[in-house]
Amino acid sequence: MEKLCITDEPEYFREKRVLLRVDYNVVENGEIKDTFRIDSSLETIRKLQDFGVKSIVILSHSGRPKGKDERFSLKPVAEYLKGKLNQEIHFHEDVYGDIPEDKPLVLVENLRFWEGEKNDDEEFAKRLKDMSKSDIYVNDAFAVSHRKNASVSAISKYFEKRFAGLLMKEEIEKLSEIRDNPEKPFHILIGGAKVEDKIDLLNNLVDKADKILIGGAMAYTFLKAKGEDVGNSRVDSKSFDWVQNFINTHNDKLVLPEDHVATDKQVNPPCDDLKDEEVKETENLSGLIGYDIGFNTVKRFRDVLKEAKTIFWNGPLGMFECEQFECGTKLLAVFLSVLKDEGKKVIVGGGDTVAAIRRFDIDLKDFHFVSTGGGATLEFLAGKSLPGIDILSDK
Ligand code: 3PG
Repeated sequence: MEKLCITDEPEYFREKRVLLRVDYNVVENGEIKDTFRIDSSLETIRKLQDFGVKSIVILSHSGRPKGKDERFSLKPVAEYLKGKLNQEIHFHEDVYGDIPEDKPLVLVENLRFWEGEKNDDEEFAKRLKDMSKSDIYVNDAFAVSHRKNASVSAISKYFEKRFAGLLMKEEIEKLSEIRDNPEKPFHILIGGAKVEDKIDLLNNLVDKADKILIGGAMAYTFLKAKGEDVGNSRVDSKSFDWVQNFINTHNDKLVLPEDHVATDKQVNPPCDDLKDEEVKETENLSGLIGYDIGFNTVKRFRDVLKEAKTIFWNGPLGMFECEQFECGTKLLAVFLSVLKDEGKKVIVGGGDTVAAIRRFDIDLKDFHFVSTGGGATLEFLAGKSLPGIDILSDK
């Protein structure tokens, strides 16, 4: 990696105060909804402590609160960290108050409680440095590195050296493998609802990919563009022209669903009031709404994916939050999770994809790499430059 990482200069950290930006965007209604991102940050915290730092002040945002809002407070994260690290952690509620100097480990309240964070405000960034009296800045928040926020971007001008944490380093290295030089054959398995979110990624990776398998709601836009009857399934009209063009140019690489799990009414997770007899496995969507790929599609996808050496998976293949429509995503997740033992690299990205894997009780360690990013991962793979990476010091 060309960027400076904490392990490149361990001595530099001795007796220093570190400001560590992480992404703990995990709190919803006062509860931690998933611990993956927190767990992924622990190695960097432990490593910095091994280097003999005087203190670590941890910064993060969570959600998109409008001002102070207890439902988005990072307090539950402080409790969780305390248990995981088996250490006292001081929770600092107000950015405009200074942090007591004798606290070796501190978590600051959700930065998005203050306008300055979102506005990439330089004064706010300076306040973050001053309240913590920190000497060194470390960014381990890959998942928010696509946002021009004060603690990710403006902060850079106040620190001579800006280091990548261990998670940031791993994200950059593993995602670069598929962005720049994937071992071939390289297949992309893509799902989710909105085509729009995946256009830049597909444009950037299509020439490197051997096959692109499409499931989830976005598949219906592709099927419709191919002239198929998709019934009342969701079609992304904004992206329709792009899809048509993409099919015209890359049809030989595309693998689309051939059967579906569908029903005739609009549903929302967890689909409790949907009766079994209202759900159909079918090739014909006329009058129906497709919510999952069917079993023949699962088989076909598995056969195609078997040929790959590298696979990037982003987006669920159906409405996995409903038992009736979870099968496609579940069967493929299980299938992909055993490929590591065969020496194949499966790289997974996206919050919903991780949520699906967790729901099916599959260990995230069963994959070559699971990115903590959502939007950041897509932008990185789309070849865009990310402010939170750009500001890191070069080696
Ligand atoms: C994420 O979860 O993708 C990041 O934390 C960024 O969050 P945001 O989309 O609210 O800026």
